[in-house]
Amino acid sequence: MKFFLDTANLEEIRQGVSLGVIDGVTTNPTLVAKEKRPFREHILEICNIVKDGVVNTEVVATDTAGILREAREITTWHPNIVVKIPMIPDGVRALSVLAKEGVRVNITLVFSSPQALIVAKAGAYFVSPFLGRLDDISSDGLTLLREIMDIYRAYNYSTQVLAASLRHPLHVVAAARMGAHIATMPYKVFDQLFKHPLTDRGLAGFLKDWEKARETLGDVFEPASARSPRR
Ligand code: G3P
Repeated sequence: MKFFLDTANLEEIRQGVSLGVIDGVTTNPTLVAKEKRPFREHILEICNIVKDGVVNTEVVATDTAGILREAREITTWHPNIVVKIPMIPDGVRALSVLAKEGVRVNITLVFSSPQALIVAKAGAYFVSPFLGRLDDISSDGLTLLREIMDIYRAYNYSTQVLAASLRHPLHVVAAARMGAHIATMPYKVFDQLFKHPLTDRGLAGFLKDWEKARETLGDVFEPASARSPRR
């Protein structure tokens, strides 16, 4: 499973990338607007931080001609950009054109299986079902994800499923168990994936026991500055 960070915050992206398990970034107009910086410059900076990872960058036009214009412009910025286009008829029309041109498109704001089926047929590179926002309205995001995985497998569609709007680690685990290709998550959720109280308690115990026996253990892990100079 690939992990993407769902943020446009450079510090969060730097932190995540430094851990070596981040495969890309998803942004949207809301996330980019929060950073209050020139759009192109900011996206290029994200590309620079994630290196080989993809950077999902969203259009704001809602008519086919405008979406095509913005998508073609955005893709000239950097080879690792995937263009995000909303799941509306004009977006799907633009997707059909762009897919034939070889442009990688992520169709976003997907909330139903028929929507996911349509975008796979039209050649989307990624489909982004929003799990958390469905849960927020007492619907079941994971049921949608299961349906999409079943449909895509039944027809062997090449569109990769990007589980989005994830709110907690159990969303990530459930998406992984279903075989979703990618999970995109806010930095907070990514950070939660690392944590377990028994890890912290176990480590504290190891270090305490080590400290107690320190004098008998030799200085193999002493800092270099504390060691006697080499002869
Ligand atoms: O970026 C798309 C999606 O992941 C948004 O998530 O948390 O705003 O529902 P959220």
